[in-house]
Amino acid sequence: MRTMNFKKLFAYSIGLWLITLVAAGYYYAMGRVEKNSDRRYAITLNEAERLTVLKQMGTLTQGVSDTLSALADNDSPHLIEVTRALGRARGRHEIPEALSFKLPLEYKQLMTLTQTGFDALANMAERGAPRDAILRQFARLTNLCVTCHGGYMIRVRAY
Ligand code: HEC
Repeated sequence: MRTMNFKKLFAYSIGLWLITLVAAGYYYAMGRVEKNSDRRYAITLNEAERLTVLKQMGTLTQGVSDTLSALADNDSPHLIEVTRALGRARGRHEIPEALSFKLPLEYKQLMTLTQTGFDALANMAERGAPRDAILRQFARLTNLCVTCHGGYMIRVRAY
């Protein structure tokens, strides 16, 4: 009899755990978004989180500028340095977990693609790929900036 109860309890706890997992997965995928009047999704963040995102954007803009300078100068070591710095290895740690839960999955995927895009540039530079091929890849990368800006904006709410 006692063991039966434990078995039941075990089944219930597994059930609860699964429900929690599914709910957490749902919130993680959806983020906190509303459709805005200009058809962009508004991501609701608090002020500190907005500043985190904008700081990341400042880093990306600096990266675009540095990448272009290195390409113009044909300076391969500099190109590798600035592009690698924005790749997966470093960029992954830039979004705090609480913020990550408020960002929709597509947004996070676009950000991951942006980071792997910088890694791809670094890999090409390391392989000694021709400059026009690197530029073409760079244009694909900057198109990700355009795509995300066209789809998302931030709305600030105090909580
Ligand atoms: C996955 C989404 C996403 C990607 C990819 C992305 N951005 Fe952004 N960016 C945003 C959001 C969201 C904002 C804030 C818009 C707002 O003010 O509501 C923003 C704002 C900016 C701003 C304004 C910053 C400020 O201080 O107001 C700059 C500059 C910028 N992005 C540059 C870039 C560049 C350059 C790239 C590509 C290398 C890029 N972004 C890629 C989402 C993205």
